[in-house]
Amino acid sequence: MIVLIGFMGAGKTTVGHLLAEKLGLPFVDADLVIESRTGRSIREIFATDGEPAFRTLEHEITAELLRGQDVVLALGGGGVEHPATQRCLVGSHVVYLQVSYEEAMLRISHDEYRPMLRNPNLPSIFQRRLSSYQAAATQIVTTGGRRPEAISLDIIERLV
Ligand code: S3P
Repeated sequence: MIVLIGFMGAGKTTVGHLLAEKLGLPFVDADLVIESRTGRSIREIFATDGEPAFRTLEHEITAELLRGQDVVLALGGGGVEHPATQRCLVGSHVVYLQVSYEEAMLRISHDEYRPMLRNPNLPSIFQRRLSSYQAAATQIVTTGGRRPEAISLDIIERLV
């Protein structure tokens, strides 16, 4: 199981697709599984049920995916903050795609489908999450100014 973690805009989906293709594994995006299971968009879940309800659902689905077949799994940017999810990650290759706040915002700040972008505390949430990403990671990869292809090859070289 290879799990990609990191803030929104780190490139988890793009790198994850490349990695899965190279390793001959399916690629699974936890956010898309949440949407297909519930039949609702993440934006809608945040708007009607609120963030805590989303986090519970996110944990349940992530835990289930981690118990399932080997895949390349991209977690949502906040997934690793859930203590029970942190425990479920033990034993997987957890690749932290590092991105600066500025670069992440350049990539995604206009995305209307990411409700967290409207959170006024986003800079401090970014800072707060860094320790969770570090703690969960078995591999840390910088992404700044690098092409997704090079990043995916780098990850494969360093898989033990
Ligand atoms: C979130 C990140 C999103 C998605 C949801 C919440 C977050 O995933 O799970 O909108 O709290 O950072 P991406 O990191 O794939 O954008």
